Amino acid sequence: MSDTAITANWEDLIRFYAEAGVDCALSDEPVDRFTEAATQPNRTALPDNRARNNTPIQAGSAQPAPRKENTPSALQPQKQQAASNIAAQATIAPEVLLQEARKLAASATDLTALQQAMTGFDGCRLKFTAKNICFADGSAGAALMVIGDAPGRDDDLEGVPFSGPAGQMLNRILAAINLTREQAYLANTLPWRPPGNRPATPLELDLCRPFLDRQIELVAPKVIVALGDPAAKALTGSREPIYKLRGNWHSLTTANGQSVAIMPSLHPDYLLRTPAQKRFAWEDWLMVKMRLENTAG
Ligand code: URA
Repeated sequence: MSDTAITANWEDLIRFYAEAGVDCALSDEPVDRFTEAATQPNRTALPDNRARNNTPIQAGSAQPAPRKENTPSALQPQKQQAASNIAAQATIAPEVLLQEARKLAASATDLTALQQAMTGFDGCRLKFTAKNICFADGSAGAALMVIGDAPGRDDDLEGVPFSGPAGQMLNRILAAINLTREQAYLANTLPWRPPGNRPATPLELDLCRPFLDRQIELVAPKVIVALGDPAAKALTGSREPIYKLRGNWHSLTTANGQSVAIMPSLHPDYLLRTPAQKRFAWEDWLMVKMRLENTAG
């Protein structure tokens, strides 16, 4: 094969990866997961916690978690560690991982402890491909909690949810109902960015859910706005698309019996792509504003 042919193939392959949403490599060498899984003994215990460098946000503060620097010398061992962590996690039964997630989440008595517990949880493989955990932003005592689906690229780099263009749109929406970002509490159904922004798998969502439920209990908001189809479906338990769910109140009952009103609405990312739909979002947010005013005090 000529050099030109090889170059053309590499270009095609890289273009194929880029179009498929692949924007990071876990390792410079390919890993044969089939051989790896066959040679590893069955494990019933969780691997040791490999805690990330993130520090929990303090209740009531909007401080982002400090960012882990990816210096060139640190990057390669990190990628190898990520690949082997993912392989180790894949050998543990999902039910074992779920039990561990539920136990860790239930034992957190405040948001700082919950962030620490989630940061130390190795059961969800997204942890090992994300650069940072995006646990929350805003104010822990807020009456309004906004829940998106998952961090995007900018959020992952910053370790703060809604840091990118969608976050700026969300800031403008909040301003339109006379709230600042710091007066709300922002989180996601997943705190780690799925590689290339791919949709989360049902197992990834299930493993993060106990932490989200506990986060809702501890924030104890009056109103939750679920942004976009995945978050709306996850929080309402409905299979209806966002277009059917938005504009209507739903409710969620937490494990400790709190009932929270949920308004599903269109995701800011979607509104950026289709500005004509903003009028529907505006209707939803006006309902949120009125509900917050009626429940104030
Ligand atoms: N950033 C987030 O944190 N969540 C979203 O849903 C989108 C962008």
